[in-house]
Amino acid sequence: MKKTVILISGTPSVGKTTIAQKLKDRLNAFYINLTSFAKGNNLISGFDEKRQTAIIAEEKMRKKIKEIVNSVNKDILIIDGHYAASVVPKEYVTKIFVLRRNPIELKNFMEKKEFRNNKLWENLESEILDVCLIESLCKLEESKICELDITGLTVDEVVNWIIAILFDKKKCEFGKIDWLKMLETKGLLDQYLKKITVI
Ligand SMILES: Nc1ncnc2c1ncn2[C@@H]1O[C@H](COP(=O)(O)OP(=O)(O)O)[C@@H](O)[C@H]1O
Ligand SMILES: [Mg+2]
Repeated sequence: MKKTVILISGTPSVGKTTIAQKLKDRLNAFYINLTSFAKGNNLISGFDEKRQTAIIAEEKMRKKIKEIVNSVNKDILIIDGHYAASVVPKEYVTKIFVLRRNPIELKNFMEKKEFRNNKLWENLESEILDVCLIESLCKLEESKICELDITGLTVDEVVNWIIAILFDKKKCEFGKIDWLKMLETKGLLDQYLKKITVI
């Protein structure tokens, strides 16, 4: 039987892990957190000093993910990670949920997770410039890409929304979010861009 493979993507701190774990419980799914998966399976090939982040051995990870999808005794798998679209073979993907959060709220979430200075602004830049959405569009078929603005929603509301999409009760769509315009309307664009360009 073909497995259902659901990717949960989005900028660091957007809420992926919190939401993916709740979704896993609701769907009785097998769960993979790519950060732990990389560490636990020796899939880290180095460390990027400038960005202060691990470098993933992508080809090895893709192979390992294929093995798990084919061998695990659950019908549904949930794969949580901001680079999920790049490491899960496209033919395996059922849907990707790109979680989006208003950068003003996201900044608060990042501060809670103790992101500071360059890392914080680098991640905010990714959110403002749609990096995870663009990565999904480069790697996967458009019909599989669902972009959710989860600003101000509870974890349960987001999980219910994802389940409604999976059961065809709600539409899966993307391309409606424009944080640049939102920041401009609020007169905040200069302030955010100034921070970003000094990274
Ligand atoms: N819907 C939500 N409402 C309020 N706080 C949330 C929500 N989702 C996540 N959080 C909080 O935001 C922070 C980042 O969440 P996390 O799931 O670790 O994000 P990610 O896995 O995308 O880095 C955590 O402190 C988490 O408790
Ligand atoms: Mg996480």
